[in-house]
Amino acid sequence: VAAFTSPTIDLAGQVRDAARAPGSDSHGDYGAAIASLTDAELPGYVARLAADALADSPRPVGFVPSAHLWWADGAQYLGRLQIRLRLTPHLREVGGHIGYYVAPAHRRRGNATAMLRAALPIALELGIECALLTCDRDNVASRRVIEANGGLLQDSRAGKLRFWVPTG
Ligand SMILES: CC(C)(COP(=O)(O)OP(=O)(O)OC[C@H]1O[C@@H](n2cnc3c(N)ncnc32)[C@H](O)[C@@H]1OP(=O)(O)O)[C@@H](O)C(=O)NCCC(=O)NCCS
Repeated sequence: VAAFTSPTIDLAGQVRDAARAPGSDSHGDYGAAIASLTDAELPGYVARLAADALADSPRPVGFVPSAHLWWADGAQYLGRLQIRLRLTPHLREVGGHIGYYVAPAHRRRGNATAMLRAALPIALELGIECALLTCDRDNVASRRVIEANGGLLQDSRAGKLRFWVPTG
């Protein structure tokens, strides 16, 4: 049964390999950074993700503290999800509170829908009563994931659809 786990060194190699897979479509610089990790860099990557939930951890300008969750079925990594603990003006336009990604080999089996469903109570615990989610206007799969989880379309800005999803 698939469930969230905190990032672990055991799964980190699969996270990197999924980002390298054809059709990964992992987002921009962040996806590229994961894909380029060497084996020796994996423990540091996992430690940075754990530290990213803490307010005082170092992070690039404009980045906010985030909780990182990996979706796995036992030892099999399936996908990842990130909860940003607050919005900046930029995240309010694009990005939103929650981002997710499913490894190409595990798509179209309901993983993203299940992952977002499982993330909503966690977001509520983290103080987010209504989560902003955005997706590209042509990202049909992501739109369905959001709508299946109660997302209400607010508007379209900068080529992105913006939805509010109640977490409680
Ligand atoms: C978008 C993404 C997360 C979907 O993951 P997934 O696990 O395949 O999604 P699900 O299996 O839960 O499918 C959700 C819905 O989208 C549909 N769907 C999935 N992939 C699709 C595709 N390529 N084209 C059209 N519909 C698609 C499914 O049929 C399902 O529809 P239904 O609820 O009506 O049955 C995954 O494709 C991905 O990681 N893409 C790259 C990163 C990304 O775009 N992240 C989201 C950023 S907002």
